[in-house]
Amino acid sequence: MKFFLDTAEVEEIRQGAAWGILDGVTTNPSLVAKTGKEFHRLVVEICDIVNGPVSAEVIATDFEGMCREARELAALHPQIVVKSPMTPDGLRAIRVLREEQIRTNCTLVFSPAQALLAAKAGATFASPFLGRLDDVGHRGMDLVEQIRRIYDNYGFETELLAASLRHPLHVVEAALAGADIATMPFKVMKQLFEHPLTDRGLQQFLADWNARKK
Ligand code: E4P
Repeated sequence: MKFFLDTAEVEEIRQGAAWGILDGVTTNPSLVAKTGKEFHRLVVEICDIVNGPVSAEVIATDFEGMCREARELAALHPQIVVKSPMTPDGLRAIRVLREEQIRTNCTLVFSPAQALLAAKAGATFASPFLGRLDDVGHRGMDLVEQIRRIYDNYGFETELLAASLRHPLHVVEAALAGADIATMPFKVMKQLFEHPLTDRGLQQFLADWNARKK
């Protein structure tokens, strides 16, 4: 399973990369806006830190505008993947961009039917938003399981990118359900390392070592 950071904060990305477990980054307009930085410069800066795909989202919602923004984004850096929303125009753009060898991430996927459409359009990645489904009382993980089955049934090459993950259990369950990638906030990636028994065990080892007869 690949791990992506779902952030536009470069310091978090630097830290994730230093841990040696970072395979890519996803951003979205809300995350980019929070940094206050210029969008294009920021995504190039991120590409220079992480060795893997970096998703950058189009803002336009019409087909021509999406394609224009996507080409501009893709021209910035070979690692950039264009994020396009799950709409009829977004899917049309994904199809055209695929023919131009521009990689895409179909975002805001909330149903198996939408994921099927994303794969048929030729999206490189499809992003079901699990946490947001949980928030409205639907079990987000059911969606990952269904998409996995559909993609395997037909041999679709679209990678299943589990998104909107809110805690370590989401990551573990997405792995069990066969997601290809988990994208998570920095806080969640950090939580994956943590266990009180690890801390206690380490403390004990060090205490025993320091108390040995010299
Ligand atoms: C995915 O690519 C999105 O940026 C992200 O996972 C959304 O997460 P949220 O629901 O926590 O905003």
